[in-house]
Amino acid sequence: MPTSQDEKADLGIKISEVEPAKRRPRPPDEDKLGFGAFFSDHMLYLDYEEGRGWHSPRIEPYGPLSLDPAALALHYGQQVFDGLKAFRTKDGAVQLFRPKDYLERMNRSARRLCMPGVDVELVLEALKALVRIDSEWVPRKRGASLYIRPVTIATEAALGVKVSGEYSFFVLTGPVGAYYAEGFNLTRILVTDRYVRAVRGGIGEVKTAGNYAASLLAAEGAYAEGYTQVLWLDACNRSYVEEVGTSNIFFVVEDVLVTPPLGGSILPGVTRRSVIQLATDWGVRVEERPITIEEVIEGIGAGTLKEIFASGTAAVISPVGQIGYQGQDYTVNQGAVGDLSQRLFDEITGIQYGERPDPYGWIERVVP
Ligand SMILES: Cc1ncc(COP(=O)(O)O)c(C=O)c1O
Repeated sequence: MPTSQDEKADLGIKISEVEPAKRRPRPPDEDKLGFGAFFSDHMLYLDYEEGRGWHSPRIEPYGPLSLDPAALALHYGQQVFDGLKAFRTKDGAVQLFRPKDYLERMNRSARRLCMPGVDVELVLEALKALVRIDSEWVPRKRGASLYIRPVTIATEAALGVKVSGEYSFFVLTGPVGAYYAEGFNLTRILVTDRYVRAVRGGIGEVKTAGNYAASLLAAEGAYAEGYTQVLWLDACNRSYVEEVGTSNIFFVVEDVLVTPPLGGSILPGVTRRSVIQLATDWGVRVEERPITIEEVIEGIGAGTLKEIFASGTAAVISPVGQIGYQGQDYTVNQGAVGDLSQRLFDEITGIQYGERPDPYGWIERVVP
């Protein structure tokens, strides 16, 4: 039963009036969650009209959207989204990791696509109410979590290319396991110099569907050759390293942690920011500087490049074991997980699961 605290859910949503959902198919067990295969019982919705702003906040049972076939999002891609997680602690509490940072990034994405942002504080309260209602969906197994996917789409029916005057914001959630089938195993990544993901001045630095559509062909090619992900180079020179799959990338060169700077084509990851903060506070020198694929390959050969890892919400830290470039594979750190990769993974997941102190205020309690 909802508690009186639940009733405080903002935006005028009355938890006690939320329609009980028909229970959705449950995951068989928490070892077989995969990523994005199961969806919780409820969703949060808001609608937007020009001149009126956001209105009609509500939590409803999970189900199909009703959309005009001329909705602008379907034709011209006016859509933004984000992805964050809720974690269950050992004592049964449920908590979010840096939720405001994700919602603020979603607002920046919205601005880039001429879409309205949301009130972060109010939406966070409503999001907590959603997670509370479906809290039995938050997995208990360490490593698993509840993935939360907020999305805004342009809903005005019009076939002329224009900025929509109407939008729908919705949030769906679902339990997820480790992102990569290998879990915290080393990944193999393939450098592509044939395709690019994004270009400065474009939309690569925001989270919108088109970036992911643009990445599919290269990713399919990489999977077909037995690689886990694609390593993207910059669009102009095909030389500077940008990102890996749907994650940011880090290199340990000598004793310096190097990551490409956010130049307009790279998504500013929340995990990336967390890694930089932790490493800096541990006394590791962190450099946000351009790094070429040639420097990476040479560094691996010379033994000066000691670790490579990807950072992202889905996998947190994903150590890279091998890089494929121009027909040759290069093994990093003799195929072992690096110390810094391991330490960052342990620290971030420790904070997320409430096992380690949270000195940065990254955690937002939801239950109790
Ligand atoms: C293209 C891209 N880069 C990087 C990231 C990592 O960002 P975050 O750490 O906020 O999940 C993501 C995932 O959101 C992504 O889709």
